[in-house]
Amino acid sequence: MANSVMPILLIEDNPGDARLVREMLAEANAAQASPDTFELKHVTHLAHAEALLAHTTFAAILLDLSLPDCAGLETLRQVCRAAPDMPVIVTSGQGDEALAVDAVQAGAQDYLVKSHLDSHWLARAIRYAIERMRANQLIARQNSRRAALRAIDSAITSSFDLRVTLDIFLENVVSELRVDTVNIWLLNHTLHVLEYTAGRGMRAEMLRQGTLRLDAGFASQAVVERRVIHISDLLQVTDTSPYLVTFQMQNFRDYYAVPFIAKGHVLGVLEILHRAPLTPDPEWLDYVQALAGQAAIAIDNASLLNDLQRSNLELSLAYDATIEGWSRALDLRDKETEGHTQRVTETTVQLARLMGIDDLELVQVRRGALLHDIGKMGIPDHILHKPGALTVAEWEVMRQHPRLALELLSPIAYLRPACDIPYCHHEKWDGTGYPRQLKAEQIPLTARIFAIVDVWDALRSNRPYRAAWDDTQVKAFLQAQAGKHFEPQVVAAFLTFLENNLL
Ligand code: C2E
Ligand code: SIN
Ligand code: SIN
Ligand code: FE
Ligand code: FE
Repeated sequence: MANSVMPILLIEDNPGDARLVREMLAEANAAQASPDTFELKHVTHLAHAEALLAHTTFAAILLDLSLPDCAGLETLRQVCRAAPDMPVIVTSGQGDEALAVDAVQAGAQDYLVKSHLDSHWLARAIRYAIERMRANQLIARQNSRRAALRAIDSAITSSFDLRVTLDIFLENVVSELRVDTVNIWLLNHTLHVLEYTAGRGMRAEMLRQGTLRLDAGFASQAVVERRVIHISDLLQVTDTSPYLVTFQMQNFRDYYAVPFIAKGHVLGVLEILHRAPLTPDPEWLDYVQALAGQAAIAIDNASLLNDLQRSNLELSLAYDATIEGWSRALDLRDKETEGHTQRVTETTVQLARLMGIDDLELVQVRRGALLHDIGKMGIPDHILHKPGALTVAEWEVMRQHPRLALELLSPIAYLRPACDIPYCHHEKWDGTGYPRQLKAEQIPLTARIFAIVDVWDALRSNRPYRAAWDDTQVKAFLQAQAGKHFEPQVVAAFLTFLENNLL
């Protein structure tokens, strides 16, 4: 900045000291050691200084700590509060090392002893204080920007919810950029419009439900031309965007539209609006673009995930419809087991949830329960529908049904994880079940849970070979089978569950 003017505020009540400073600065200006010129403004009271600082910016402040209306470090604190962005240099009558340290800690950039000063030294001290203040501000800004980028980054990796991520994004954009309003418009690829998605700082009702056509407005231009659009005074422009008038009526002046681009695709646009001209530092636009790049990644991730979730959901709905169809067909054939499969399935899922089985596993429990007797498809009618007791040979066939189920289901990839129940539901806790005589914990937990529900429902129902038992009989039987057919803990849990559910 060649030949610029450096306004300096001197807060000093001693006329002699004030004159001294004025002379030194005049001398420094005359020496032309530097291209810029000091221009002194002098006040004698803290109150005057505060009034002035409310609306005027100075390159640096020279401060005498003992003023008529305030004395000591408190004077410094007041000035720093009134001018947080300006470097303050304390000038003191005598050297006091402890006070110097305190002053720097309280926010002074430097501490000068008046009697030791000359013009050259004072000029250098001022320039140095300004430089140091700028460097500190730059570091603080960079740190805070880096922290904001990190916060957004971790929001992207830790949340699958685009709303949450965009919220954190907006929070950081507003606080870091110190702008009045930010809006996010996302591109609807099907309808070819920008849709208002999120924003801060403006009455959102005006924009909610809002869409922008791609052939009008600066936001659309940023998307179509894939570049940042900057309008330094919105009040001076006209275009066909429906929102321009809204923005103008709210006195927005400065305007940026920054496209979201990820993997070469434009996904939307970030609008930044401010009611005064923005005076960005040189790295500002780079930073804005870094922020927009991060938002673009989040938006891209979310749409990938949405697509994936949608097709997964569609697939699993199709799977479940198929399975339920099969299980209804099985119940139809097993005539007197009408509704058995649906009942044991609902009850098993509830009991399994109570026993701590997680949601992912419950999906398999549900499928496995629905298909538990699919192996009976391989059992001939004359055995399956036999009104009396089975012969040894017939039992031989009947006992194949869990193995048949495994053979039917395991070639189907998405049903392989659901095979525990169909394959193991006739194993018994004491190892006397079939087909593998598994014992205790060798039997998968979900099959242990299912077994008791299956027997409970079978005993309460009519079968071709016997009439239904009554509830007291069934409960007494289940109780008696604890440690034999069933795991004792599962029996206890199931009986409690029955009490509470009045089944
Ligand atoms: P299911 O009728 O649905 O019976 C399921 C399970 O409930 C049986 O497995 C058994 O553990 C229990 N259960 C059912 N009814 C009774 C009963 O009257 N007394 C006792 N103590 N437990 C009972 P299991 O025994 O492995 O039988 C598997 C399937 O074999 C039965 O399914 C049924 O389809 C068939 N089955 C079993 N016993 C006979 C029978 O005596 N005659 C005929 N026709 N079929 C039978
Ligand atoms: C916008 O409408 O989103 C940008 C402002 C304008 O183009 O008028
Ligand atoms: C049923 O009759 O559907 C259940 C019998 C069994 O678990 O084998
Ligand atoms: Fe069975
Ligand atoms: Fe069953």
